[in-house]
Amino acid sequence: MNKTYGKLIGASLGPGDPELITRRSWAVLQSGARWIYPVKKAEEVSYALSIVERGGLPIPGDAVELVFPMTRDAEALGKAWVRAAQQTVELLGEGRDLVFLVEGDASTFATFGHLARVVRELVPEIEVETIPGVSSFAAAAATTGMPLAEEDETLAIIPTAYGTGVIDHMLDEFDTLILLKVKPLLDEVIELLERRGLLETSCFIEKVGSPEERVIRDLASLKGATVNYLSLLLVQNPKRERGELRRGCRRRKEAQEAAAA
Ligand SMILES: C[S@@+](CC[C@H](N)C(=O)[O-])C[C@H]1O[C@@H](n2cnc3c(N)ncnc32)[C@H](O)[C@@H]1O
Repeated sequence: MNKTYGKLIGASLGPGDPELITRRSWAVLQSGARWIYPVKKAEEVSYALSIVERGGLPIPGDAVELVFPMTRDAEALGKAWVRAAQQTVELLGEGRDLVFLVEGDASTFATFGHLARVVRELVPEIEVETIPGVSSFAAAAATTGMPLAEEDETLAIIPTAYGTGVIDHMLDEFDTLILLKVKPLLDEVIELLERRGLLETSCFIEKVGSPEERVIRDLASLKGATVNYLSLLLVQNPKRERGELRRGCRRRKEAQEAAAA
């Protein structure tokens, strides 16, 4: 007889403020689905779980942690991923839905996408649902009052590990940059922003929406400081020179006139 698998649900919880958990995620958390949540080490505190706890939901006794180590050792990482995916498939094989708790948005640099893909490779009939949510940078923009993009502006989101050479180049191409995972290269990036005269239009945000949230506008004061992994930089470049725009939304008459000219 064919096994009936539960559904795998990626529930975005927003970046820290439980008020930013969507109604859909909130409902799924209370639907009787079994909770699973990611940690970097066994029995470590889970940031995603802490958001829900602060929202006032008790953690079910049968919630399961999945370990995703933060390592560049490809072999260790590969093994951990296979273990996590197999564990997920086993739990789904009990027939109950699983809700995977995701900090921020589940489709943005999140473990969930990869996990869901590996699980589907193992058992293609497993159904997956992704509940969208508020990303860290959407919340950071709102908190700091720095709009991410207006009118014809361009916006890019990049992991800081690409390095200051790439970031320097991107500053010529985009009006706003969102630099994620900024911790290891923070000093180098601050020096770059200093050289480009962009310190005043940049902002550092750590653990946005949580009780430990920090917003630092005086970036020079952060040089040499240790910051949390959950931190990002919003960088606006008002000096960027823009190219010409081709307007797809031009009214037909204007477009015909332009074509005839
Ligand atoms: C693996 S990515 C996760 C992104 C997340 N899924 C989202 O939608 O924002 C981790 C990086 O996102 C940023 N980040 C995530 N949560 C944050 C928070 N609460 N405050 C500031 N930055 C955060 C940091 O740059 C961190 O290094």
